[in-house]
Amino acid sequence: MEKDNAKKIVFSGIQPTGSFTLGNYIGAVRNWPLLQDEYNCIYSVVDQHALTVRQDPATLRKRTYEAFAMLLASGIDPEKSMLFVQSHNPIHSQLNWILACNVQYGELTRMTQFKDKSAKHPENINGGLLTYPVLMAADILAYNAAVVPVGIDQKQHVELARNIAQRFNSVYGETFVMPEAISPKVGAKIMSLQEPTKKMSKSDENLNATILLSDDKDAIMRKFKRAVTDSDGEIRYDVENKPGVSNLMGIYNVFTGKSFEEIEKEFQGQGYGVLKEAVGQAVVDGLAPIQGEYNRILSDKAYLEGVMKDGAMKAQRYSQRILDKVYRKVGFVQLKNK
Ligand code: TRP
Repeated sequence: MEKDNAKKIVFSGIQPTGSFTLGNYIGAVRNWPLLQDEYNCIYSVVDQHALTVRQDPATLRKRTYEAFAMLLASGIDPEKSMLFVQSHNPIHSQLNWILACNVQYGELTRMTQFKDKSAKHPENINGGLLTYPVLMAADILAYNAAVVPVGIDQKQHVELARNIAQRFNSVYGETFVMPEAISPKVGAKIMSLQEPTKKMSKSDENLNATILLSDDKDAIMRKFKRAVTDSDGEIRYDVENKPGVSNLMGIYNVFTGKSFEEIEKEFQGQGYGVLKEAVGQAVVDGLAPIQGEYNRILSDKAYLEGVMKDGAMKAQRYSQRILDKVYRKVGFVQLKNK
């Protein structure tokens, strides 16, 4: 991390809720290792964010290990990047408070995700749900991250982080770097295999709709075979009129690197069955090495905890400098030799 100070800082986080899906992988996790050479990357399993929805403690703990192992298996190299669990660095919570005092209630209630989630869970509109984006801003600003890879649904939160940073800077003087959201062009949204106008989701009740990273070969092939397409029989990329076929082509594109034009040519005159089989096989082959690594890493708790500890120390050391500066700027008394 400290190696190259000229590189921009990347920060992103993933919640340890639910099993990882092909959608999470393609939309987020797969892209993270690709940034490791160009940027100084900081990645976190954001367990504190997960608490905005009621969690079973044992399950949350298990999924935190799983998410961490998945990030390692996907190619995040703890020698190159910082990788840690959010609750292992208390500075996020400390900065959260300062930022919370620099955001307006109206800005928070206006967030699309807050509106959606509170409509969906009227029985648990807790304070954390409202202030969720403030903690997210703290995640980003605690490291002065310039680049924040997120799905499209999180862009509004990064926008709010910018507004908070800007406001803080104008009140207290230049402190924070303005973060910018980036989203992957391809595969930003992988759709349900059963209802291809809906996002692939781990909470889908239809088990055939979602490919889990833990699915074995048979399950993957079976789900692709049952994928919903359309009745015109032509293999052509057209999201509007052929969402099912286009989704399959999008997944195939990610795993083979072939363009949509090439894919159309490859399957010209062939039926959907052939396409489904090929996409299934490409996914099976593409995921196999990651799944192998994942199982190996997950069974080695001592190794996992060692990496967590090391990551937490690096994250704390790095963000402490920024927190100290913020505390000084807002007027907190600084004790020497603390
Ligand atoms: N809110 C993000 C999501 O649900 C996860 C997240 C938390 C995050 N903190 C972050 C992403 C900071 C980017 C930067 O996907």
